[in-house]
Amino acid sequence: MNNIAQVDYDGLIPNNVALGEDVRVKRALEKWHPGYINWWNDMGPEGFQTALVYLRTAIGVDPKGWAKFDYVRMPEYRWGILLAPGREGRKIPFGTHKGEDAWQEVPGEYRAMLRRLVVIQGDTEPASVEQQRHLGKTAPSLYDMRNLFQVNVEEGRHLWAMVYLLQKYFGTDGREEAEALLQRRSGDPDTPRMLGAFNEKTPDWLSFFMFTYFTDRDGKMQLEALAQSGFDPLSRTCRFMLTEEAHHMFVGETGVTRVVQRTCEAMKQAGIEDPYDIARVRKLGVIDLPTIQKKANLHFSLTLDLFGNEISTNAANAFHAGLKGRFREDRLQDDHQLESGTYPVLRLIDGQIKNEDAPALSALNMRLRDDYVVDCNVGVGRWNKVIADLGIPFEIKLPHVAFHRHIGEFSRTNVDVDGNVLSPAEWTERRTAYLPSASDKDFIESLMQPQFAPAKFASWIAPPKVGIDNKPGDFEYVKIADA
Ligand SMILES: [Fe+2]
Ligand SMILES: [Fe+2]
Repeated sequence: MNNIAQVDYDGLIPNNVALGEDVRVKRALEKWHPGYINWWNDMGPEGFQTALVYLRTAIGVDPKGWAKFDYVRMPEYRWGILLAPGREGRKIPFGTHKGEDAWQEVPGEYRAMLRRLVVIQGDTEPASVEQQRHLGKTAPSLYDMRNLFQVNVEEGRHLWAMVYLLQKYFGTDGREEAEALLQRRSGDPDTPRMLGAFNEKTPDWLSFFMFTYFTDRDGKMQLEALAQSGFDPLSRTCRFMLTEEAHHMFVGETGVTRVVQRTCEAMKQAGIEDPYDIARVRKLGVIDLPTIQKKANLHFSLTLDLFGNEISTNAANAFHAGLKGRFREDRLQDDHQLESGTYPVLRLIDGQIKNEDAPALSALNMRLRDDYVVDCNVGVGRWNKVIADLGIPFEIKLPHVAFHRHIGEFSRTNVDVDGNVLSPAEWTERRTAYLPSASDKDFIESLMQPQFAPAKFASWIAPPKVGIDNKPGDFEYVKIADA
């Protein structure tokens, strides 16, 4: 088993998988590389491809000290293939093969299922880069611009991670899937990305922060479940991706925190106590709290759709086969096979939302979604602490899981943020009380004025508490002039 902690940077593709000794895969990836660079130049951050960006690059896979920071032009970023170190004698931790040696090669009987899991994960990575490609132009600071680009290059690296698995383990069809990952486009009516939330627009920076908070967190949940996989190369790949993913959610959580903080500070300064006095709050050049709540409602509900149907044979099969586990499977105390036992699933029964016990194996999507909601609430609590500390009577709340859904049990019904079933007419009437209206969007857009001077921030967002890599507040995170 290969246990390299340092990365080989000599070739075209940095890696810790001894690519130099694997001529077939090395050639396949080198052939894929120009298409990737073309995709990045076409669909990556628009207008900043030649700017010098202060980025971190992975130089190892040791959780302590795996990255180095330096100025890089994004198309010259060293995207590489990095797997977390193998664990000696690792066993398949769940499912019908529980206790057998983890697979180092693809088990033939599960080939199609495994390929699909890799392709679906892989498709989300370039999709988010495409969704965010216009945001650089309206960055509220160089600090934020740099964070956007860091997330973007790392999503590019996550694509590399999945493409490596396809090229190494799935032969001709893996190669075709790797090509197709460069062909689909977020939001394209003919060749869209595979999952709904990844075809939505990310039109402004509040959306970006909500996306990295809520949707990258779905990424974390999926990666945690795949990191448990009995297919060891997938497990090791996902374990390293999780290290990077943490920064994406940090960008989201602290981004929203800083927006909320700025709003509350401005209200306090102007002596506005009522958070619903929206017109006056907006005149201060900040985003009112009810609109922030609407954005959270939108992004949370779109992201819940990524967990799929509450009752799912696919999820049951992937677990049974030992390919995709539960969130932190290794910390759970049960038989890890779930052939018996039940799990409560929220369902729509005779027009009412009720819990109903379902076989545990069928309810795995529901379970992962429940774990996700718990995880989401942690950061929401931190946002509310900022609001409370500044003395504004307002609390951000996640909407009911049945609200505004397009997939699964609640996709054919209208439910308000508290979980009350609405008639179609009531829904139409109240929709803009829950979700951003056209005028909310116009207002937010009007605030999206770029702020490209070091140490300066747009009116609607507070500066961060600390800089990236401990840099001082006036650090020039992006040198645009060098473009
Ligand atoms: Fe990712
Ligand atoms: Fe991410």
